[in-house]
Amino acid sequence: MKGIILAGGSGSRLYPLTLVASKQLQSVYDKPMVYYPLTTLVENGVRDFCLISTPHDLPRFRQLLGDGTAWGLSIEYREQARPAGIAQAFLIAESFIGQEPVALILGDNIFYGGDEFRRAFAEFQSGATVFGCHVHDPERYGVVEFNSQGRAISIEEKPREPKSNYAVPGLYLYDNQVVTIANNLQPSARGELEITDVNLEYLRRGQLHVCRLSRGFAWLDAGTSSSLHDASAYVQTIEKRQAIKVGCPEEASFCRGFLSLDQLGALTSKMPNCEYRDYLENVVAEAKRLAKES
Ligand code: DAU
Repeated sequence: MKGIILAGGSGSRLYPLTLVASKQLQSVYDKPMVYYPLTTLVENGVRDFCLISTPHDLPRFRQLLGDGTAWGLSIEYREQARPAGIAQAFLIAESFIGQEPVALILGDNIFYGGDEFRRAFAEFQSGATVFGCHVHDPERYGVVEFNSQGRAISIEEKPREPKSNYAVPGLYLYDNQVVTIANNLQPSARGELEITDVNLEYLRRGQLHVCRLSRGFAWLDAGTSSSLHDASAYVQTIEKRQAIKVGCPEEASFCRGFLSLDQLGALTSKMPNCEYRDYLENVVAEAKRLAKES
């Protein structure tokens, strides 16, 4: 499955932070925001990426992530001239997607915990899989309504009167029909190609699967100064308490077998002395110890 990271937009709600670096390059505790969605996809077996951002911000992403080779990945870059909607990503990345299924993740969505993504990726065959996450402010999101059998029966974008508390977070799995569906979309009243309209078309075709996220799952959105701060505090709490890193692409790539132990060791040794390096050195040492034991 191919992966698209959508990391454009104006970031106006984070002004003046976004005057020099886009929202998805801001730090969430100890690493750039985009590391988190990238890691989510790598953890679930995605290796081939297209990152979409503004012409202004794209060079910075390239500088940060390169072509992905160092992490055992492939990362291409495409421009979105103006924020004309999330679903425009499938038009911009059409030649990248080719005939494959694709996972789209928003560059400012941070996920942690739970088992649902792992299962959804492993079981994905066709149609679309999206998720439903219980939130207190569903009117800010795409909102999904379920019937008594737990089947999704409607999705509305930012409804004034939400039919449930289940918001659709920014990770979407689609089969290749998504390219045709996106090509046939009309812009909404706010002038955007809406991701909710893509999901509605799959719903109409009877091919939309909505997986409800359990209580053990955290979905953080880092789009305002306050939510950015909260996301940092959340990551710090988990990392300090559990001595693990959330959103570490090098580790995820190693765990998926995209990087060998030697490659991870070599990559780590090139890092400056810092806590991030210390952490990865521990990952390498522990993997060596386990390899010796077996
Ligand atoms: O976060 C999940 C929500 O994302 C979903 O529940 C909604 O259904 C979906 O429409 C979207 O809601 P927002 O309207 O709040 O998304 P926003 O415009 O804030 O864009 C989300 C991210 O995608 C943001 O980091 C900027 C980026 N983006 C957005 C648009 C519209 C782009 O890169 N290009 C775009 O054209």
